[in-house]
Amino acid sequence: MSKLVFFVTCPKGIEYLLEDELGSFGLTPVRNAPAGVWAEGTLEGGYRACLWSRLANRVILHIDEVNAVSGDDLYDGVVHLDWQQHIAVDGSFRVMFLGQNEAIRNTQYGAQRVKDGIADRFRASGGQRPSVDAKNPDVTISARLNRGRLSLGIDLSGHSLHMRGYRVEKGLAPLKENLAAALLIRAGWPEISRNGGDFIDPMCGSGTLPIEAAMMAMDLAPGRNVDRFGFERWLGHQPDLWSALRQEAKDRGEAGVKAASSRIAGFDQDRRVIDTARHNLQRAGLEGLVELGSCPVAGLFFEGIWSEKGVVLTNPPYGERLSDRKELGALYQALGDAVKRGVPGWRLGVFTGAPEFGKSIGLRSYKQYRLFNGKLPAQLLLFEIDEVNAMTPHEPNVPGEVTPRIANSERAEMFANRLKKNAKLMGQWARKQGISCYRVYDADMPEFALAIDSYEGRIHVQEYAAPKSVDERAARERLAEALAVIPGTLGIEREELVCKQRQRQSGTSQYEKQAASNEFFQVHEHGCVLKVNLKDYLDTGLFLDHRPVRHWIQQHAQGKRFLNLFCYTGAATVHAVVGGASRSLSLDMSKTYVGWAEENLALNGADPKRHKVEQADCLAWLAA
Ligand SMILES: C[S@@+](CC[C@H](N)C(=O)[O-])C[C@H]1O[C@@H](n2cnc3c(N)ncnc32)[C@H](O)[C@@H]1O
Repeated sequence: MSKLVFFVTCPKGIEYLLEDELGSFGLTPVRNAPAGVWAEGTLEGGYRACLWSRLANRVILHIDEVNAVSGDDLYDGVVHLDWQQHIAVDGSFRVMFLGQNEAIRNTQYGAQRVKDGIADRFRASGGQRPSVDAKNPDVTISARLNRGRLSLGIDLSGHSLHMRGYRVEKGLAPLKENLAAALLIRAGWPEISRNGGDFIDPMCGSGTLPIEAAMMAMDLAPGRNVDRFGFERWLGHQPDLWSALRQEAKDRGEAGVKAASSRIAGFDQDRRVIDTARHNLQRAGLEGLVELGSCPVAGLFFEGIWSEKGVVLTNPPYGERLSDRKELGALYQALGDAVKRGVPGWRLGVFTGAPEFGKSIGLRSYKQYRLFNGKLPAQLLLFEIDEVNAMTPHEPNVPGEVTPRIANSERAEMFANRLKKNAKLMGQWARKQGISCYRVYDADMPEFALAIDSYEGRIHVQEYAAPKSVDERAARERLAEALAVIPGTLGIEREELVCKQRQRQSGTSQYEKQAASNEFFQVHEHGCVLKVNLKDYLDTGLFLDHRPVRHWIQQHAQGKRFLNLFCYTGAATVHAVVGGASRSLSLDMSKTYVGWAEENLALNGADPKRHKVEQADCLAWLAA
């Protein structure tokens, strides 16, 4: 069989798993792309991917790549390809077009030009041409535009393979089947089930995780109940090869069901979703092979005999869509308690968009995977259920906390691009100047009204108070979006980001304590060392926008006496001292800041006899 090229698409973040899976179908992965893998192999490998892939969305047989800088370019490329070997003259097709560029601004126009090219190719060689059928075509043409190039292929799957045919009814917030499969692989289920381990999802909703777990454990092909694949009326189809593969899948499935020894179960507190799960189970042909029951997590007591090893994998609600965040701490803690009580020695996997609640589980997580649930950033947290990993559950709820979330990915990407560009430019500049604390972004895009500062690589985000004309919810949505993209764009962990929502100040609230982390650390500016704290106060101990004045003072201080009224943390005095001031006096009313200023001066080797800091009311001091 000749070597073919395939592009197999998948949810973002699971490309590496797909790469391994394609290898097991006899395909050779060549290169990963975002949300897909390029691979080479035979048509048999392509068929196997359609029938057996638990992770793929679509399997596209690559035909060719053509220039698509303009609509005419694209048409010229398409019209020269040999479509007659793929689509019957009396058949039908549709074009699935993805992407846009300056000339091809929308997918409808792109698809139209591809259709024109294909139709004209047939017309030129005889007159008759296939019809276009958007709903039930014989062949689906995949056209993917990337800048000036268009990649063309036959969509062998014909539909997204996450639809296995068993889930017609959904619970609330269901997981996509192929994402569920990816979570099971990451949690080590294939190996644990091979060794006879068991599986439980205590919040199973419509049953996606137990159903996928059972199909894996019993070697059941996920595509075995699919009515029709995209290749069945494609001219290159090899029906004998395909029926042999179907037969093989049937035999393997029967043997797998006979040999399986894992106990697999799903529970949910909601009786109605358990009914839904039961219907899905029937449709998947797994009746009697997976146990289902309605029970709240807190009441789970693992009846009957379970293996010593196994996996509890679940996708609890995480506040965005299903329930109030305030109750979640208790739910995650109940989950931790239940598994510690019921299945010690097992592994626990929790897939959540609110990973901060992982701390409420009361176990130390040994591995975290960053993924997406649709567009929502989410994490898979893995735990070994073992006393040595136990910890005191923490309540993560901070009043007014905003959960990172992307509502509009295009807008988020624009923001991320701007931030990335700024960070690169500012980073280069700051390194040259010997500065480790600087502003990366200052409301450069008006809809993202934030000040983002980098302090020795840690990130401090402040939200400017939105004017009354801006809708509160919209402002919150943008803040959530910014918080979702900042860690990845600036290369930091989410925990290294501190976010403060700035309200208009009244009275002395600016100086009141916001938290009590006591996390002080040092930053550098023009040869001076300064202590900052990003968490405990509204401000950090260093006003970045005063840097030019501090530098000026440093450059003009040689041999001079320096008076700093309202000195705050004494940063300007430090610059004067480093610049060679002979004496200085710094005054502030606050005991905290007087102490902080003294420490800053000491850090820079100032002689306390000549450089004094005093607690005083500056106006009274001046009047005296
Ligand atoms: C995000 S959904 C799970 C979706 C599921 N993975 C699917 O694919 O359909 C979360 C589920 O947790 C269930 N749940 C919430 N609190 C629970 C509790 N205390 N005990 C058991 N189930 C609970 C909800 O009824 C809901 O079905």
